[in-house]
Amino acid sequence: MDKIIVTGGGALSGEIPIAGAKNACLALMPATLLSEEPLTLTNAPRLSDINTMTELLRSLGCEATRLQDGQVLAMSSHNLESHVAEYDIVRKMRASNLVLGPLLARLGRAVVSLPGGCAIGARPMDIHIHGLEAMGAEIELKDGYLHAKAPPGGLRGAVYEMGFASVGATENIVMAATLARGTTVLKNAAREPEIVDLCTCLRAMGAEIEGDGSSEITIEGVDRLHGATHPVVIDRIELGTYMLAPAIAGGEVECIGGRLDLVAAFAEKLDAAGVSVEETERGVRVRRGGGRLSAVDVTTAPYPGFPTDLQAQMMAMLCTAEGTSVLEERIFENRFMHAPELMRMGADIEVHGGTATVRGVERLRGAPVMATDLRASVSLILAGLAAEGETVVSRVYHLDRGYEHLERKLGAVGAKIERVKG
Ligand code: EPZ
Repeated sequence: MDKIIVTGGGALSGEIPIAGAKNACLALMPATLLSEEPLTLTNAPRLSDINTMTELLRSLGCEATRLQDGQVLAMSSHNLESHVAEYDIVRKMRASNLVLGPLLARLGRAVVSLPGGCAIGARPMDIHIHGLEAMGAEIELKDGYLHAKAPPGGLRGAVYEMGFASVGATENIVMAATLARGTTVLKNAAREPEIVDLCTCLRAMGAEIEGDGSSEITIEGVDRLHGATHPVVIDRIELGTYMLAPAIAGGEVECIGGRLDLVAAFAEKLDAAGVSVEETERGVRVRRGGGRLSAVDVTTAPYPGFPTDLQAQMMAMLCTAEGTSVLEERIFENRFMHAPELMRMGADIEVHGGTATVRGVERLRGAPVMATDLRASVSLILAGLAAEGETVVSRVYHLDRGYEHLERKLGAVGAKIERVKG
């Protein structure tokens, strides 16, 4: 298994290009199941998770081809042959469950393996299931698979209020509703930019959707959807991650393609810590001077709150801020696995349930550490940028799921970072 070695060094300077959003692309790709006509995605990120979703769609009989060095995804479900999403693919990536709604809407049936737990939590699918059942679907769990079928005549529009603003459940239910008979009103819907991006693409395919971005989305079912070409929105989590590189190492970096409006809650916390953040014509510029940063408190929440996917990375910065920071993780039940690894680097962190208390130290010391999940991995890389000496991060396959060419992008702004084939 590959390792990444980061040597703590001086300030960073230069530009980092921001790619298309993994979590938007993983919802957009299953949308191809809703139409017999081709769906083409541009600005697609080149990530192993996208490869996994491609493998899943192909296993259902879809054509899925990557063009232009992988940045264009040309897909068609004209020859859809199967409605079964097999365990050996789904277990690799929870987002595989996003084929459930589209398959039900298109074929009237779906058999989708439960993804199983993952490092950050149990991640059940009860909200997905209840929402689709409200639309008339019958769904039962057998041998680890969800067996779903639509009522005769297809799914019916429904009014459904989600118990939690689940991103994936919103995506599954909205996609299913585009072809249902009648009107669906989804209440307490997730408001993430990736939801808006999916609805924008679905409208381009002929869907009638209003209210995306708010907590109430209304979908008028239509008989069929046509093909479309859609640009994937930029990745706000990759953006936030790279904004933290100069915030931790010092210097000035411009994130090209970045949009400050997509990371407002996060940028506010950087500003409060003493990091300069400004929108430029080409993206977002982040600058950090020589002095120590200030501790800030962080509580994760559904969008537009502070994103849980940036909590680990923020903790890496707060490890050397002046004062004590309290981080509350309110979205997932086990998302502090980066804390013990940061403590190996000399961080002073106490974790009690969903709360981590970080007492800032002057400087971290490089150490061998282990990646445990996608965002925890990158927080260790970020911490290594300003640590004394070498940090060796193992199990970097976690990183490749969500960050394309990470060492190239950080190396280009002066970080001392290399990947060692293992
Ligand atoms: C999406 O996951 C993202 N993944 C996650 O990013 C992100 O952390 C999460 O949204 C929250 O923003 C993709 O978009 C592919 P949820 P998702 O359904 O849809 C509970 C990353 O690092 N829940 O909003 O699975 C669930 O257990 C990944 O890129 C239920 O209880 O998130 C969790 O505690 C990690 N029942 C909370 O809701 C359900 O039916 C949020 O889950 C569904 C969810």
